[in-house]
Amino acid sequence: MKRLAVVLSGLTLAGLALAYLGFATADPAFRVAPYLQFGTQTSMVILWETEEPATTRVEYGESRYGDEAPNLSQTATIDGTRTMHEVVLTGLKPETKYFWRVVSVLPDGRELASEPSTFRTAVHDSTAFAFVLYSDTQNNPRVWGRLAELGFLERPNFGVHAGDLVDRGGDLEDWLVDFFPPAHVFMSRYPLYTILGNHEDDHDNYYRYFHNPPPEYYYTFRYGNAQFFMIDTNRDVSEGSEQWNWLEWELAKSDATWKIVVHHHPPYSSEENDHGNSWTGSTTYGTHARDLVPLYEQFGVDFCLFGHVHMYERTWPIYEGAVNQQNGVIYINAGGGGGGLEQFAPTRSWFSAKVKSVHHYAYFAIHDQTLQFQAIDVEGRLFDYFELRKDAVHDPAARARVIVPPAPRVEPSGGLFLDAAEVRLQAVFEDMAIHYTLDGTPPTPQSPRYTGPLRLTETATLKAIAVSRDGTVSRVRAVDFRRATLRPPERAAARRPGLAYRYYEGRWEQLPDFEALTPVASGSTEHFDLAAIKQVEDGYGIVFEGYVEAPADGIYTFEVLSDDGSRLYVAGEPVVDNDGSHSPRRREGQVALAAGRHAFRLEYFEDHGGEALTVSWAGPGFDRQHLRPAYLTH
Ligand SMILES: [Fe+2]
Ligand SMILES: [Fe+2]
Repeated sequence: MKRLAVVLSGLTLAGLALAYLGFATADPAFRVAPYLQFGTQTSMVILWETEEPATTRVEYGESRYGDEAPNLSQTATIDGTRTMHEVVLTGLKPETKYFWRVVSVLPDGRELASEPSTFRTAVHDSTAFAFVLYSDTQNNPRVWGRLAELGFLERPNFGVHAGDLVDRGGDLEDWLVDFFPPAHVFMSRYPLYTILGNHEDDHDNYYRYFHNPPPEYYYTFRYGNAQFFMIDTNRDVSEGSEQWNWLEWELAKSDATWKIVVHHHPPYSSEENDHGNSWTGSTTYGTHARDLVPLYEQFGVDFCLFGHVHMYERTWPIYEGAVNQQNGVIYINAGGGGGGLEQFAPTRSWFSAKVKSVHHYAYFAIHDQTLQFQAIDVEGRLFDYFELRKDAVHDPAARARVIVPPAPRVEPSGGLFLDAAEVRLQAVFEDMAIHYTLDGTPPTPQSPRYTGPLRLTETATLKAIAVSRDGTVSRVRAVDFRRATLRPPERAAARRPGLAYRYYEGRWEQLPDFEALTPVASGSTEHFDLAAIKQVEDGYGIVFEGYVEAPADGIYTFEVLSDDGSRLYVAGEPVVDNDGSHSPRRREGQVALAAGRHAFRLEYFEDHGGEALTVSWAGPGFDRQHLRPAYLTH
């Protein structure tokens, strides 16, 4: 036992020394050394990446008093080989320490095994726990490594990262050099719960490296007596948007003592120039994330945690645009994870309690109704601290205020249907009544009451409200359903694989009328591979044309991720409009296709900066996947 402890601490010290110097602590044979994700009371996710396809095995076991070596007596394997390995350990005991390591066998028979590490499953609801908060680590492995090490030394239960993990989500080097090696000391012991920043560019790399519940860009998890709500503020968060509806629903349902929302962009900020130049004029004090604030205030959110602005700021508790110690929400900007530091406006904001422009992380310790908070700089110095006692601060009368019911859920959430659509409505609590209309008029408690699935056979706008027992009425949920007829297939015979393209050069901020322009080059391609077609870095456009093969009759959903603008036509219909000069952004649309070949036209332009273009689709019998060349002809 003693010898084991000495060996483990020796390894740890060596690892820390390396981390301090900014070098990888991982076995160099792994492309990404094993790390932990999304732990619950009974499960843990372990991921790693190998340079070549290899087998997948995790060895693990509960720690046992008196053992001479880590217990690794259980195994979890996945058949076959792969480079990205993702194993979900299930059936674990809550609040229990486990040892684990991973083993991959390479094609030449060599075995890659990680050093034994540890994790503890999520604690019981009444147990004290702690977590650390990072954000905006970006391209600063030295600072990120130091902060990860300091976080590790806290021995927290887990970590939270509020986005901008890397500087360029599409650049593998950023993940393999700047992000993972410095984080190894932390991520091999504690699960890190992440959310997307703008610098991830919504890239597939993020979704490959992080495992969160679908749809992954937003999710919730419970830890002890706290519930965390993770939101992607790169996507729409305005009232009635998918994420807004989801958050309203989940907050209303939550019985957690502490409610904590995490997203990347600041609802409140005293930063000097991102939201107006405060040295020469005025500031908006925040971003579109302010749209979510009414939900935080309505449902008693305790903390909103974010980054984006590279500095530290803690607000006073805020409620309805004023400091309010009884019912306010505390906003913490912890964007000092490594990105270049930013500055504050020259005059103080009404909401600000503490500001500091320094690389840092934050530490939260929670027991029952008490929360202790610390902000610690990259040198390990404490520079902000407070203790909150919920039972002492919050006014019980105020907390008992009437909760407005969330708008009803509608499943499916609109879109095209063929002959008939079966639509189900649900209220967050069973004792709430749902009333609806189908003729576009606003529903009232006198409108028809929902008693079971609705069968729509015509195009309609469904509007629904939930009404609580005391007569409180929710917002109106409005969802469009459109009856579609199948587009007949083209008679074109199967020809060459891939798509024809025409390549143009010019400077645009919107898609131009390509038909009025003269192409610089043309050819055919099997992939939407910009690098292979472009002849200049910036200022070009491409039109891809040909046919897409629909494998069966049905409704197809196409998604185009592009930087900058794009527009997709299928069977002559505009299906996806993703136009404008913007960072990588996903937009989707639907079309009803009969089995067979349909005209396919994708227009794209690159203004300046980064570039990206991917097309995915989902259809009858298959989930969302990249549109592979096998389905494209011209
Ligand atoms: Fe950032
Ligand atoms: Fe950011």
